[in-house]
Amino acid sequence: MTTKAESPSPLIDIESLGFDAGAHLLVRHALDALMPGQTLRVMGTAPGWEVMLEHWCRAQGHLVQWQAAEGRRFAVIERDRRYGRWRDAQQTGRSDPRVAEAVASRASPAWGLAARGAQVEAGSPEFAFRLDQKAEVWSENAADLYAQAVAAQWDPDEAVDWLLPFDLPAPVEAAVVQIMTYLVENENAALVVPARFLGQLHLHYRELQAALAIQVADEARHIDVFTRRIRHKGHEPARSTAGGQASLKTLLDEPDFSIASFMLSVMGEGTFVTLLQFLQRHAPDPLTRQIARLAARDEARHVALGMSHLLYRLNSEPRLRSRLAHAVEQRHDALEGTAGLNEEVFDALILIAAGELTPAAVARGYAQVQTLMREMADGRYTRLVRLGVEPAQAKQLAALHTRNFM
Ligand SMILES: [Fe+2]
Ligand SMILES: [Fe+2]
Repeated sequence: MTTKAESPSPLIDIESLGFDAGAHLLVRHALDALMPGQTLRVMGTAPGWEVMLEHWCRAQGHLVQWQAAEGRRFAVIERDRRYGRWRDAQQTGRSDPRVAEAVASRASPAWGLAARGAQVEAGSPEFAFRLDQKAEVWSENAADLYAQAVAAQWDPDEAVDWLLPFDLPAPVEAAVVQIMTYLVENENAALVVPARFLGQLHLHYRELQAALAIQVADEARHIDVFTRRIRHKGHEPARSTAGGQASLKTLLDEPDFSIASFMLSVMGEGTFVTLLQFLQRHAPDPLTRQIARLAARDEARHVALGMSHLLYRLNSEPRLRSRLAHAVEQRHDALEGTAGLNEEVFDALILIAAGELTPAAVARGYAQVQTLMREMADGRYTRLVRLGVEPAQAKQLAALHTRNFM
């Protein structure tokens, strides 16, 4: 086969190759290289090739005419915009999200599992992904946060010094076990909430899909290391409170992705970062300090993803702000009757910061936990203000947040 680029329209010579022996591949590839409306010239010598070419062009939807030059007859095929089985195919945006119109404001159920940017053949099955609108899920830096997360993955066996020797007084070890038990419970919620949305998310929004998927993997790792810390000295998990679980259940019950992201990531995981930093500073053993530092780093990305999504949606939908405020108030009211919420965790935190059961140490631990509460509320306030909430209301909402922290 030869191609002459200098001709007004490209010319291919299929020589003696028949359409019953693969000649259509040469013609199709040459046509694919053309823009719609451009023409391709084809010549050949196989017996009956003209009839077979006409037949193929008709089936594919291309116009074909015949011309003669230099004593040879050749076909002039006009490339149709879409042809053959692909005539009614749907274009599904573009793979690069930075390209104009790469990401659709609404993703069609018929795009199904296709890679974004692929052409989907007509007749493909429809998939009912509930989260199919860009505004309700998109985040401008999900791709960056995913890349950061990939680079920051850590192996618990490598990153944590499990063999470091230490021995804590029994009540302090028990307090650490109680905090770890509480952390696992909260991590379970932090895993299930994004995992559920992940299964409902239209795959067209693949940057968010990836960010949520690695977030779920982060939480699985947190659950693993917190559980390993519980078992490190031969203990079983301690107590799980009704109030703590009631607080977490409100997160699992929230169907709106934006409100759930706000409650879980901005308010909850944001507060958790402060808690983990507290454990990193005040935990009585090196293992707990290391685990808290590693988990806090991951949690900061989860907060960033939630913030980024909310900033994106609030930009086009400022009225969402009052829905977010309402969600905090409603949750506070729903949990108001929960007796003793977080007592076990408070006491354990004081003991952890104290390091021993003496009046002076407990006084110190108590003061440090009071400071922790203020830092948590300040962090929530700062994030609320960044989301455009008026300072007075931000202060009030920061204070209404669940005593379970998440
Ligand atoms: Fe986590
Ligand atoms: Fe998280």
